[in-house]
Amino acid sequence: MPDNTLQRQQLRQYIRQLRRQLSPAAQQQAATALVTQALNLAQVASSQHIALYLANDAELDTFPLIQALWQQGKQVYLPVLHPISAGYLLFVQYQQDTLLYPNKFGIPEPLPACHRLRPVNQLDIIFTPLVAFDAVGNRLGMGGGFYDRTLAQLAPDSHCQVIGLAHSCQQIETVPTEAWDIPLQQIITPDHCFNFCSNRRGA
Ligand SMILES: Nc1ncnc2c1ncn2[C@@H]1O[C@H](COP(=O)(O)OP(=O)(O)O)[C@@H](O)[C@H]1O
Ligand SMILES: [Mg+2]
Repeated sequence: MPDNTLQRQQLRQYIRQLRRQLSPAAQQQAATALVTQALNLAQVASSQHIALYLANDAELDTFPLIQALWQQGKQVYLPVLHPISAGYLLFVQYQQDTLLYPNKFGIPEPLPACHRLRPVNQLDIIFTPLVAFDAVGNRLGMGGGFYDRTLAQLAPDSHCQVIGLAHSCQQIETVPTEAWDIPLQQIITPDHCFNFCSNRRGA
């Protein structure tokens, strides 16, 4: 196995274990702090179509933020494994009464009904989960490459903002990257908002 691949695997294991050690109280506090951070962002205020994810494996819990966005009348979308193009995600509208079904990873997702799908280029913000990030916006995911493939479909002039969400303990000095990794334009942790202007498309 190449050195970089091994290092990425080891980092994933280490950080996933670290975040699983957060107490339920710490998780709850982090989720509440995320609501404050996210609602303070001008681009959230001006956005209508926002993709989020449901937390899995001790990821930063987004549900309080989803509820706050619903309250503000925003349209929220969740990622769904593409039923035909393996390795890609679709974004499907998520409302309070939407039924969810576990996918092959056990992560709940809505049914990909055509009239509820929104193409990535028509989303205003995509909030992504991640395993590790660094101070220049590099993202290490769970290893499936789902977001890399899906975000590669964004047009160079797309207005869609890609923002990573993470616990502070998920920051590392340097993410060992691969050519296909899509860097993030912003990362929000419960106590900080990082901006990486140079990672904007067209920058
Ligand atoms: N745009 C893409 N097209 C095709 N395959 C891709 C693309 N982006 C990522 N992949 C594949 O997905 C796999 C996992 O990617 P990786 O970046 O290691 O995962 P993650 O981003 O989840 O940490 C890799 O084998 C990579 O080749
Ligand atoms: Mg990647």
